Amino acid sequence: MALGSDSRHGMWSSRWLFVLAAAGSAVGLGNIWKFPYITGENGGGAFVLIYLVCVALVGIPIMMSEVMIGRQGRSSPIHTMRKLADKAKRSRKWTFIGWMGVLAGFIILSYYAVIAGWALKYIWITGSGSFQQATPELATSTFNDFLADPWQLIFFQTVFMAATIWIVGKGVSKGLETAIRWFMPLLFILLIVLLGYSINSGGFAQGWAFMFDLKFDQVTPETWLIALGQAFFTLSLGMGTMMAYGAYVPDNANIGSTVVTIALLDTVVAVSAGLAIFPIVFANGLEAGQGPGLMFVTLPLAFGQLPLGAVFGTVFFVLVSFAAITSAISLTEPALAYLVEEYNAKRKRVAISLGVMCWALGLGTVLSFNIWSEFYVVGDLNIFGFLDYLSQNVMLPLGGLLIAVFAVWALPAAVREKQLGLRPGVVSIFWKIVGGIVAPLGVLAVFVYTLLPVFQRLVEMGASMLAS
Ligand code: PFF
Repeated sequence: MALGSDSRHGMWSSRWLFVLAAAGSAVGLGNIWKFPYITGENGGGAFVLIYLVCVALVGIPIMMSEVMIGRQGRSSPIHTMRKLADKAKRSRKWTFIGWMGVLAGFIILSYYAVIAGWALKYIWITGSGSFQQATPELATSTFNDFLADPWQLIFFQTVFMAATIWIVGKGVSKGLETAIRWFMPLLFILLIVLLGYSINSGGFAQGWAFMFDLKFDQVTPETWLIALGQAFFTLSLGMGTMMAYGAYVPDNANIGSTVVTIALLDTVVAVSAGLAIFPIVFANGLEAGQGPGLMFVTLPLAFGQLPLGAVFGTVFFVLVSFAAITSAISLTEPALAYLVEEYNAKRKRVAISLGVMCWALGLGTVLSFNIWSEFYVVGDLNIFGFLDYLSQNVMLPLGGLLIAVFAVWALPAAVREKQLGLRPGVVSIFWKIVGGIVAPLGVLAVFVYTLLPVFQRLVEMGASMLAS
């Protein structure tokens, strides 16, 4: 497990390929679909600022910790944690991080595939020209009608899941790396085209103000939890993905600058998506807080007004689907690498079994948008709401907190210094303070503030059930 050894699953051929692969994991539905819609639901400006603070002060140090642990262990997160805990003479209970990551990846992929299926469907309908000069009402009803039909949702979810399993089963090949090399710049170009449109849409000033005017009166402790959860989700942190990818990073790559590059790329895509979407919302009198449908209503409207909109629209949704698939692949990597190592199992077989189980769990999400929309698991959370909340707001931050504590306080100092290239001194102390104190305490504070009332409510509900 010492530096210098290679992972049995293969290695990235250079630092840049790691940047591409990690950016492929980070940039996905979280940036283009989720960031704008939760910004809309949480009142805009202040939320964006809190999110950026979370990325800088919590996301970046935790990503450094994950990559560093991964490169030191050079195995799946579960085995890496076991090896490093043994080596540092710490409890094996630290492998909990790996197990929770496997579970979180499974839960996230189950609903991720459903939403990615929507993007697949939109390749189709934007391409057919249905949105040519469409009205906001038509765009809204097209989306609502689609969601009301579980069979269609299942069809596209299945297509997406099958494609993911197929790629994962084959192994992450050069093909994928080449594709990422092409699709990232293309995605940027199309986002710029959309930005150009939204600047001229008549709603840009309002959209800009919505995203950047600070309205602190709308901030509650829960806003912090949601922003923090989003930072983890969008950077693929807290569940061992970056640890698994870190296991394939060459020894000579500088972890600090690599991680900052990945986080910057991810943030630029998210903020550009928001700036492309909100002006269209305001120019068309739509609702900023409308939830998961936001991107699927606003962007087709914009494409419907643009020259060659059907072509651009199709290309855009192809890119979104591609961004989603590179993230989906990374969601499976912690579980897959573990099962291959532990049972010497064939990658393909493991991929199919995991994929089928995940698909089945995804049916709960499909039905949350129609037949079971009012079937609540807890409070006002239906199945999708619950899985989303649990994975993003609880499991990922908890995983991240433990990872940071382990990296800074449990690993021997020599390992940290070797991995991060930090000589004992100012930079090393800075990383220790941010990674080992600020980030974990930040996560903890947000947890305590937000989840305490939730626990209290659950206890009260339990007590009243017992009493009746
Ligand atoms: N970062 C991805 C996105 O923003 O869409 C989602 C994701 C991928 C989350 C991988 C977690 C993960 F491990």
